[in-house]
Amino acid sequence: MCSKVSKADNDLRKLLSEKRLKGDEDRRVGSEVFDRLTLETLYKLAKMGHINKLQGAISTGKEANVFKGIDDDGNFVAVKIYRVGTSDFKKMQYYIQGDPRFNVRTSNKRQLINTWVTKELRNLTRAQEVGVRVPRPIIAKNNVLVMEFIGDDIGNPAQLMRQSKISDPEYVANKILEYVKILYKDAKLVHGDLSGYNILIDDGEPVIIDISQGVMVDHPISRELLKRDIDNLYRDFKKMGLQISKDQIKSKIMDL
Ligand SMILES: Nc1ncnc2c1ncn2[C@@H]1O[C@H](COP(=O)(O)OP(=O)(O)OP(=O)(O)O)[C@@H](O)[C@H]1O
Ligand SMILES: [Mg+2]
Repeated sequence: MCSKVSKADNDLRKLLSEKRLKGDEDRRVGSEVFDRLTLETLYKLAKMGHINKLQGAISTGKEANVFKGIDDDGNFVAVKIYRVGTSDFKKMQYYIQGDPRFNVRTSNKRQLINTWVTKELRNLTRAQEVGVRVPRPIIAKNNVLVMEFIGDDIGNPAQLMRQSKISDPEYVANKILEYVKILYKDAKLVHGDLSGYNILIDDGEPVIIDISQGVMVDHPISRELLKRDIDNLYRDFKKMGLQISKDQIKSKIMDL
């Protein structure tokens, strides 16, 4: 046990020097979220070339922190790290158990988080396959998800729809409703937490993020989640100055 830990320590020290997962800001952030297993996971991802450098936090949320990183080819990546301490395991368990893709009946917290992260990656992949603009998933490992960084060429992350000034609200709203529709009809998925807080605006285009809780349409709560997504979008569209009713939204998505 002892030698295992010291080997991990050595490996981590190597990562910190070789791969430059260092810098004042990262150390500060590190003391907040990087427990040993997370560091080991980051180390493995670094060895695989997915993370060469972490450049500080884009967001520090309830359950996860998102960092901007750079991979071995010099591309920006977004690194989402779930914190084992503050994750809502009851929710994770409930969503995972009703999902036919995951045969996981566990109350082990780490295992639940790992499945949750895999679920986010698979939902992103599915969404991307049917033509929904989402961050391209790169790899999920334990509690860490690496994905395409959404932002400009010099590394400024895209803004949330809720916080940006939208130049063509009608275009953006129609695009989002089209995405909800193809997600439902073609990918058989409901996002489940869709709102202006989980949509980024990149060059005027909406990009759907944070799809870990997304469920298949035959999940017992999919209808309830879809209704909630529609309610949220209705509120956001109104805030954006659009005159659209809930019924119009529903009919744009499908005949419900
Ligand atoms: N691929 C990405 N590229 C750029 N920024 C991103 C990306 N993914 C997430 N972000 C930023 O990080 C924030 C949090 O990401 P996300 O919504 O996926 O996590 P979260 O689950 O909402 O976190 P929490 O619920 O704990 O607050 C987003 O609001 C966005 O600003
Ligand atoms: Mg979010």
